[in-house]
Amino acid sequence: MVFYFTATGNSLYVAKCIDEYPVSIPQAIKNSSIYSDNQIGIVCPVYCGEIPNTVKEFLKESKFDTKYMYLILTYGNSASDCPEFTYNEFKALGINFDYIDTVHCVDNYLPVFDMA
Ligand SMILES: Cc1cc2nc3c(=O)[nH]c(=O)nc-3n(C[C@H](O)[C@H](O)[C@H](O)COP(=O)(O)O)c2cc1C
Repeated sequence: MVFYFTATGNSLYVAKCIDEYPVSIPQAIKNSSIYSDNQIGIVCPVYCGEIPNTVKEFLKESKFDTKYMYLILTYGNSASDCPEFTYNEFKALGINFDYIDTVHCVDNYLPVFDMA
């Protein structure tokens, strides 16, 4: 089972490389639930060095029954310490990410990214 959050499609692209039918976090968040699977993945962008608030809310309000939980972060310029920060933030809340990795994508943070 793979959940994704995307604004411009990078994270959806990555999620679809892992699972043919990934689940949209903004859709899933409407019904807080318990998710059970052999592996559960989260794919989302880095926003200002952290994961988006909607993804944080989803993680905090859901229960995950799995032996292997992973997080894939897409980023445009630098993921900085987002992997470590998110690992520690959620470990303290009882969610243990077994694996975290980053994927460099097209930057959509237009205030600093030169589209030209
Ligand atoms: C509000 C905002 C903040 C962002 N902050 C970062 C950042 O701190 N570091 C970075 O490398 N990219 C940052 N980006 C770029 C995105 O992480 C990157 O383009 C990502 O792949 C977009 O994924 P999406 O197409 O699934 O929305 C930011 C983008 C937005 C819109």
